[in-house]
Amino acid sequence: PGKLFQFKLVLLGESAVGKSRLVLLYVIVLPITIEIILDSYLFIFIYVGDLNDILVLRFVKDQFDDYRESTIGAAFLTQTINLDESTTVKDTAGQERYKSLAPMYYRNANCAVVVYDITQASSLDKAKTWVKELQRQADPNIVIALAGNKSDLSARRAIDSEARTYASDTGLLFFETSAKTASNVNELFTSIARQMPLE
Ligand code: GTP
Ligand code: MG
Repeated sequence: PGKLFQFKLVLLGESAVGKSRLVLLYVIVLPITIEIILDSYLFIFIYVGDLNDILVLRFVKDQFDDYRESTIGAAFLTQTINLDESTTVKDTAGQERYKSLAPMYYRNANCAVVVYDITQASSLDKAKTWVKELQRQADPNIVIALAGNKSDLSARRAIDSEARTYASDTGLLFFETSAKTASNVNELFTSIARQMPLE
């Protein structure tokens, strides 16, 4: 790659929509980074989120198994990337919990993926709430993508074109993804990379 860019990424959404699975698809090394090469640039998204996702990795790397562990508000992780590319991980687990934790996740985020589950109508309402909160409280330049996950379960689909319409009215990137088949997941992160400022 010609040049390297790093951005902070946060994933938000109702419990069980598939946030952890989407991230775990990408993990090759610890800590969690999502690496996308685009136009000969390397984009590194640093995942700011649940410590459990990182712990769980040790057990589920490269697998899509039946593990089910809710990771809402489990921990807060900050990562400092040093110039020599060695990484310091600072864990402030347990100091705050649940929803009160979210602002810490997204405060310095360059981009956010707000996830809902296409089989759960309530999860789109929750996603809209997150989008409003991001628009009110996050960095005004944040790039937000809406991801309708579990597209492999289309037989049980509860949410249709309304989500795409909402995303386009609201100025969000939009993809239907599957963390199970990996459908559209690369496209999701690549399109976010395209929106990142290159200075
Ligand atoms: P919390 O940590 O509780 O907020 O949930 P989460 O959003 O991180 O959800 P998680 O990734 O743990 O996924 C919840 C369940 O949905 C797990 O059983 C996953 O295996 C399953 N799952 C996630 N993504 C998909 C998908 O795209 N398709 C299918 N069929 N199942 C999925
Ligand atoms: Mg999770």
